[in-house]
Amino acid sequence: MSTLFKRTHMCGTLGMSDVDREVVLNGWVAKRRNLGGLIFVDLRDKTGIVQVTFDDSIPQELFDKADSLRSEYVIGIKGIVKERSAKNANLATGDIEVFAKDLIIYSEADTPPIYIKDDDNVDDNLRLKYRYLDLRKLKMQRNLTFRHKVTKLARDYFDSCGFTEVETPMLIKSTPEGARDYIVPSRVSQGSFYALPQSPQLFKQLLMVGGTDRYMQIVKCFRDEDLRADRQPEFTQIDLEMSFVDTDDVIEVQEGFLKKVFKELLNVKIETPLPRLTWDEAMERYGSDKPDTRFGFELKKLNHVVEGCGFKVFTDALEKGGDVRGICIDGGSEKFSRKDIDKLTDATKSYGAKGLVWIRVNDGEYNSSVNKFFDQQQLGQIAEVFDAKAGDLILIVSDRAKVVFDSLGFLRREIAKRMGLLDDKVYNLLWVVDFPLFEKDDETGELKAMHHPFTSPKLEQVDLLDTAPEKVKADAYDIVLNGVELGGGSIRIHDRNLQAKMFEVLGLTKEECDEKFGFLIEAFKYGAPPHGGLAYGLDRLVMLLLGESSIRETMAFPKNQNAQCLVSDAPAPVDKSQLEELGIEVK
Ligand code: AMO
Repeated sequence: MSTLFKRTHMCGTLGMSDVDREVVLNGWVAKRRNLGGLIFVDLRDKTGIVQVTFDDSIPQELFDKADSLRSEYVIGIKGIVKERSAKNANLATGDIEVFAKDLIIYSEADTPPIYIKDDDNVDDNLRLKYRYLDLRKLKMQRNLTFRHKVTKLARDYFDSCGFTEVETPMLIKSTPEGARDYIVPSRVSQGSFYALPQSPQLFKQLLMVGGTDRYMQIVKCFRDEDLRADRQPEFTQIDLEMSFVDTDDVIEVQEGFLKKVFKELLNVKIETPLPRLTWDEAMERYGSDKPDTRFGFELKKLNHVVEGCGFKVFTDALEKGGDVRGICIDGGSEKFSRKDIDKLTDATKSYGAKGLVWIRVNDGEYNSSVNKFFDQQQLGQIAEVFDAKAGDLILIVSDRAKVVFDSLGFLRREIAKRMGLLDDKVYNLLWVVDFPLFEKDDETGELKAMHHPFTSPKLEQVDLLDTAPEKVKADAYDIVLNGVELGGGSIRIHDRNLQAKMFEVLGLTKEECDEKFGFLIEAFKYGAPPHGGLAYGLDRLVMLLLGESSIRETMAFPKNQNAQCLVSDAPAPVDKSQLEELGIEVK
């Protein structure tokens, strides 16, 4: 039975000002070295590591106990802080050491299956299986603490702006956010199912109808979609909704929040108002609705230059209503070999591009993959569009607009990455506004809501809903940081007739609407305020602030690539009796 050594200090906080102080520390053994008459123990807690020294001034029994320590034993020590004779500049506490006078072993530990070392290159699945060991890494503890600071700051800031945090239900009817739902069976109503919320969208709107005026929530959301570095099946939003506001009001409050986050947590000054790009402009210039503006390589349209040229790939695309566009990589000609370009061409195929045309700009002449079809003068005309100079590399894609934008948007970023132009100490925040209200479903060709069906069209364009709905823009906005969509939102429709029109354009019958969103439409009958809001992906915000490349590094227990929780081994089969109670049979 061990008693407890009551802690007086955290390991990582000790320094020269503590010299000669008697301290009690608790933590894990990061390392133990026995140099004969001296035993050094690196003691770790979430704040850092400090060296604890056992020398021959202590009783033999205590010395032997110290000698029995192994990595990851959990111990407590009492001792005196002393200045080190040989200081360790690599350790925050490296000016001092603690001479131990007493030691208690709380628990022994088997050899851990992963090293507890920040830059350990261990397999991701092993890290996730032994996440509780992985979390002992100082980097992970720093990340969790940082995340806590972001959520605390969010709560305090939005509180100061009159927002109330309200919890919304987790067992709900499916929300229209566009991903697949996680479904939960009901025991009481067999054959019926709850969905886990993809976001609290409809409930936060009901809160506005309910007079809450300004709502916020730090909330788990669930989406069954393909995973990527910035996507998890279970993630967290800072979710917000406001009554009696327009786009500018929402944006102003958010800019105040972002300014505060960057100032208080990174000591970085963000200039507001932030730049706003319309969706059209973002696509035209960057080929992306989440442009990374830390580097150039902007897209240029070449339709007018290549019109009537002898290259069928271009003319075919134009005839079909498509586009020919390109980017120019400053100094790219030398940096990208033929083989590199072949690899980039392959990579763009996953965005639908069938090929990539390249032009190398040399001193006074051009070399290109289409030399057969373009003479030097024509290549010169293309180069002129980009203001290209000797040493530049021009890359061109022709296809329908979406393929061209997606491919060039990808190439821009990929090339910038390879050229080392993505400085993670530069924070380019911007708003993308005026999204199209609808987009065409790739498979069915039918119109679907680009955000969700409650997003308000620009009111001055409402007439177009009947004649040219694809031209209608929405009062929707995304906040983008260095090419990552941090958050998105919109002003909502609060007018019953306009909502009905929206459903009609989306081809939803009255029955389908009632079935899916009847409760919201019903609520709107009883007095709905104009309202709008936004949700940030908290994990993504923290990831970018920390300079991490995956949101997993910001979460305590993330899922792996197959959406499994390797710590608890979920998902897993359940007892037959549980299924019987639910009236479910597994095929
Ligand atoms: P949206 O679907 O754009 O909007 O989501 C808001 C933000 O949530 C983050 N996000 C994710 N983060 C990690 N993993 C995921 N799978 C994932 N999916 C989304 C992104 C995204 O910008 N209800 C609306 C908001 C509103 O209109 O107010 C909504 O959920 O950072």
